[in-house]
Amino acid sequence: MNILILGSGGREHALAWKLARSEKTDKIFIAPGNSGTSLEGENVNLDPGNFNQVAEFALRKEVGMVIVGPEAPLVNGIHDYFLKNNKYRSIPVVGPVKAAAMLEGSKDFAKDFMQRYCIPTARYRSFTGDSFDEACEYLQNMSKPYVLKADGLAAGKGVLILEDYREAVDELQKMFSGKFGDAGSRVVIEEFLSGIELSVFILTDGKDYKILPEAKDYKRIGEKDTGLNTGGMGAVSPVPFAGKSFMDKVEKRIIKPTLSGLRSEGIDYKGFIFFGLMNVKGDPYVIEYNVRMGDPEAEVVIPRIKSDLMELMLGVTEGNLGQRNLEITDETAVTVMLVSGGYPGSYEKGKYINNIDSVSGSLLFHAGARSENEKLVTAGGRVIAISSFGKDMESALDKSYRNAEKISFEGKYFRNDIGFDLK
Ligand code: AMP
Ligand code: GLY
Repeated sequence: MNILILGSGGREHALAWKLARSEKTDKIFIAPGNSGTSLEGENVNLDPGNFNQVAEFALRKEVGMVIVGPEAPLVNGIHDYFLKNNKYRSIPVVGPVKAAAMLEGSKDFAKDFMQRYCIPTARYRSFTGDSFDEACEYLQNMSKPYVLKADGLAAGKGVLILEDYREAVDELQKMFSGKFGDAGSRVVIEEFLSGIELSVFILTDGKDYKILPEAKDYKRIGEKDTGLNTGGMGAVSPVPFAGKSFMDKVEKRIIKPTLSGLRSEGIDYKGFIFFGLMNVKGDPYVIEYNVRMGDPEAEVVIPRIKSDLMELMLGVTEGNLGQRNLEITDETAVTVMLVSGGYPGSYEKGKYINNIDSVSGSLLFHAGARSENEKLVTAGGRVIAISSFGKDMESALDKSYRNAEKISFEGKYFRNDIGFDLK
């Protein structure tokens, strides 16, 4: 079967890399892809936001499955577009319809959904600008630190955690005045949860589900989780504190009620669900839903899947996931992200990436990297994820860090302490 993967990051490279290893896969197209995905298939210059262009391409190239990497096309209804048009309806899409993608597209929708189905999450209320005074009053009754969340998609920047009440009120005002554009016209104010975060992923065909390996990502730019938030500087899987009893709670209190909630709302969810969780003294709470795989979590989760991922994807699109097998390696996988100097602030692109060929014992998943006249150059903030396996986290990290030293480009930076809080 020919498949089309939408996206251009390390996550999409990891998906393409794994799916290319299946006998069931013929041609892989990646749109727009990067220098890494071109090693696994053919990059095509399509805009994932232009649904007609994507659908026409899929039809022309006899694509039997479209896998959507990032959230934006899902929140904007790419799956619905295929379903609505007779011409494209027979091409299955992995990724939820818009009504379910709102779990990521609107924090208010997600919170309301969790409340409706008694899924553990932080206490909250949501407000618009015309109830500013009420919002301040609610804020005043919360304890510190204050958590403000822009309702809509804000490229991962829409969550503010503030220590000071005056500052929180100022920020709230700025959000209502357009700091995050339309995304902040509604703001969720919620209780701060204190604990350790982790990410749990499932793949579902709407009825059955498979729990994929859990992971922990490191979002801050600085060591010991300091400084600005990034897309993710590294990840580890498995997560030592997510043992059987914790994961049983996650399944019973969070995964099952989420899926039965979706079903009772008439939503046939096909795709990945990413549960961003907080472990509060052994009890899981949902911080956020994402309707896709995480990045860089995909760069550790996907390599740990021993089974044929294409078989599982076919289980999703054919609605028989329950009959498919998911095997996971016991080994630990880690990934270390090499980023451009200055990221997540402004940074330069187009720097030559050297010594890729000297890497051994790790998998390289390209993110913001592209080929230019046969040379590899940087093309984004997050450049390359270096993933490695080991019998434990330390030995996996040794390999990634050895290779992180070998690869060079002007301004290269990476965090030297991935997994520091799990040691
Ligand atoms: P989100 O974009 O929802 O993932 O939020 C970004 C980050 O803010 C999360 O990864 C958490 O570290 C933190 N965060 C969000 N909500 C809360 C909360 N209620 N309590 C504590 N930390 C939170
Ligand atoms: N690494 C977090 C995310 O993909 O949203």
